[in-house]
Amino acid sequence: MRYHIWTVGCQMNVADSHKLGAGLDRLGWASVESPEDADLVVLNTCSIREHAEQRALSKLGTLKKLRRQGKQFKIAVMGCMVGVNSDDLQRRFPYVDAFARPQQFEPIMEAVGHEDLGGEFWPATFETPDGPTAYVPIVHGCDKFCTYCIVPYRRGRERSRTIDDVYAEMAHLAARGVREVTLLGQTVEAYGHDLDGTPDLGDLLRAVHDIEGIARLRFLTSYPKDMTERIVAAVAELPKVCESFYIPVQSGDDAVLERMRRGYTVAEYLEKLELIRRAVPDVAVLTDLIVGFCGETEAEFQSSYDLLANAGFDKVHVAAYSSRPGTIAHRELADDVPQDVKLARLHAVEQLETGISGGINGRLLGRDVEVLVEGRKAAAAGDDGAAAVAERPWFGRTRGNKLVHLTGDVAVGELATVRIEHTSAWSLSGHTVPAPVTAAT
Ligand code: SAH
Ligand code: SF4
Ligand code: F3S
Repeated sequence: MRYHIWTVGCQMNVADSHKLGAGLDRLGWASVESPEDADLVVLNTCSIREHAEQRALSKLGTLKKLRRQGKQFKIAVMGCMVGVNSDDLQRRFPYVDAFARPQQFEPIMEAVGHEDLGGEFWPATFETPDGPTAYVPIVHGCDKFCTYCIVPYRRGRERSRTIDDVYAEMAHLAARGVREVTLLGQTVEAYGHDLDGTPDLGDLLRAVHDIEGIARLRFLTSYPKDMTERIVAAVAELPKVCESFYIPVQSGDDAVLERMRRGYTVAEYLEKLELIRRAVPDVAVLTDLIVGFCGETEAEFQSSYDLLANAGFDKVHVAAYSSRPGTIAHRELADDVPQDVKLARLHAVEQLETGISGGINGRLLGRDVEVLVEGRKAAAAGDDGAAAVAERPWFGRTRGNKLVHLTGDVAVGELATVRIEHTSAWSLSGHTVPAPVTAAT
């Protein structure tokens, strides 16, 4: 039997898709590139913004058409579009064979005749790596209930995996060639508070640090309020943990942060940033920002803009606010910033950020950085297939998670030293050099 999994959304969804794939592989199924060749097509969906849902809906439309043309595959919809109750989805999409909430793969298995899998099947199924990097979820769900956000309603309450379980999965991945693991949680510092002995993220990082073959550790996403000195100290002390934090600010204005119920002020956020930068020299900091949230005035937006202009983030993911049915903001606040204003603010931030990222990356010109080689750059339109493969540059990432295109005699999974010869706001490029790494970025 053959399966095809289509994935949108965050790293959690990518990890879930890999896990489902690993389970199907264990049952002797094979993965195929095209839905038309599959017996089972799974759409792993995201609800974070309306646009993400629209992508899944248009994909469903395509599948429905293929079915009408006589294709026999089963269709399963999983992930964050599926709520506790899927009656409404079932009514809207009667041709879908199974709806599965995030990580609840059972309905999909039932639809393909595997209602017999024991309770041990999924916990003993570890993600199958498809390269030298992998994501490992360590805490599922979210308890924060930021007013704009759908995630807690779709992924449920926080549940941590035990250190032993995470260790076993990472050892499994290392044995299959993985060199870099990113530990995942919606608020990754929440790790462990529900476990015996309440270990924290720092304890987990220490515990998995000795796994042979793993050269780099990362973690995301950080929740500013929960970031502790103890965790930052572990990051500073452990050589495999990369100098990179992904710590969303969401707004640079206290009144907006309060309407979002983020639980911190701008000053408190900046204190955490300072704590990180003091302890971890050369650290790269990524953040998320929402523009056009309910009631955001021009002055409130300006506060966000000014924060970005001063904080020196390596990268900002900016999104226009999208009201999500079921959230507190959808119920209690008016989505009153006009779409054209949201987009103008989005573009202003993007433009500002291009300049800032370009400047920060420019400082790496001429320096030697450590790059984990992940593969060859994808073919550009017009390349004539296999003959061109050997000509394409390699790509990989620095410890600061910056994309690098490189030339030189390297292999996938290798830690190369690259002298940076060209930089832009989006990537770096250069050639390998034999010299030892001097820069951590
Ligand atoms: N757990 C992470 C983020 C998860 S969602 C955190 O707490 O920061 C990923 C990003 O999507 C968020 O950081 C936010 O910037 C954005 N986002 C979430 N809900 C949104 C909404 N309703 N409209 C626009 N962007 C949203
Ligand atoms: Fe959503 Fe807030 Fe939880 Fe992040 S912390 S997933 S933004 S509710
Ligand atoms: Fe989307 Fe769910 Fe992730 S809503 S961003 S796939 S947690």
